[in-house]
Amino acid sequence: MSVIRSAVTGVGAYLPERVVTNAELSEIVDTSDEWIQERTGIRQRHRAADDQPTSDLAVEAARKALAAAGKTPADVDLIIVATTTPDMTFPSTASIVQRKILAPTCIAFDVQAVCTGFVYAISVADGFVARGHAKCALVIGAEEMSRLMDWTDRSTCVLFGDGAGAVVLEPVEGQGTPADRGILGFSLRSDGTKTDLLYVDGGPSTTGTVGHLRMAGNQVFRHAVVNIAEAVTSAAAAAGVEVSEVDWFVPHQANQRIIRGVGERLGLDENKVVSTVADHANTSAASIPLALDAAIRDGRIKRGDLVLLEAMGGGLTWGACAFRL
Ligand code: ACO
Repeated sequence: MSVIRSAVTGVGAYLPERVVTNAELSEIVDTSDEWIQERTGIRQRHRAADDQPTSDLAVEAARKALAAAGKTPADVDLIIVATTTPDMTFPSTASIVQRKILAPTCIAFDVQAVCTGFVYAISVADGFVARGHAKCALVIGAEEMSRLMDWTDRSTCVLFGDGAGAVVLEPVEGQGTPADRGILGFSLRSDGTKTDLLYVDGGPSTTGTVGHLRMAGNQVFRHAVVNIAEAVTSAAAAAGVEVSEVDWFVPHQANQRIIRGVGERLGLDENKVVSTVADHANTSAASIPLALDAAIRDGRIKRGDLVLLEAMGGGLTWGACAFRL
């Protein structure tokens, strides 16, 4: 049976120029390179310049993704930005990106599911593309987590970074089997009873401030491995494949120990797991497209490969998405 799938036809990413090492952070909080690397695997993170809003990072990533897909901004008919650090409360960062890249009048909005944002956004975009409502969708994960840090809290400020990644989704015809190119299945979840484990203590209708990120790190850690493993299994089932058939796992890059823990729980070959956490730290909704871009650019992930994205973040939200490149 012939079906329309949404295929990833281009990927791009952008990291701000400034690199902040663990050693530099150890000058402002009581921490060490050794502690950070041992507990998280992180060596460094990138930080946006003061005058560089999230939309600027998103625009850089979007332009590269469009070029990789052989498209121009004039082709774009849907823009979804996954972010928890928008330029402004409104308009959406997606509308600002639309203005900056000179895309024509189209559909543009943000998705907010914190670190799971990109998995949510690509699944939402799949609905538009596969139903014929969009022919060239830009799905962007863009974050400046540095803006949410309490720089006196060593338990959080060492974990996060800034960056952006983007994919272009286009409709392709498939046969309705797991051999098709494009998005094959996803699984999305939220458990709102756990909002207090990971949140920002500010907002327009409460404090009137931006606020700072607060996290019960080890409790989040405990949920992460179990939740992510469940989402991976569900997304693989929705795609009609076994987890063992997946060529590449591109996880949210929060902590190397979580990535390893999920891999062990699912019996994954660690050579199939893409990890950029050492160089990027946790860039929330940007981390998956950043890692995807790195593994495509260095030739690991190739056309025809079965790829599985997975994430967990504030909400708590979690999810996974399987697609064939
Ligand atoms: N440097 C040195 N010591 C530190 C630091 C630091 N940067 N941070 C905490 N410590 C100390 C603590 O104070 C504690 O000291 P104590 O024993 O004297 O009280 C000790 O290290 C151990 O602290 P734990 O919190 O138990 O350390 P843990 O091994 O759990 O690692 C970490 C902490 C890295 C935060 C881990 O729990 C983690 O990665 N959690 C999950 C984070 C995550 O995945 N978030 C999800 C997405 S984020 C999003 O959605 C926005």
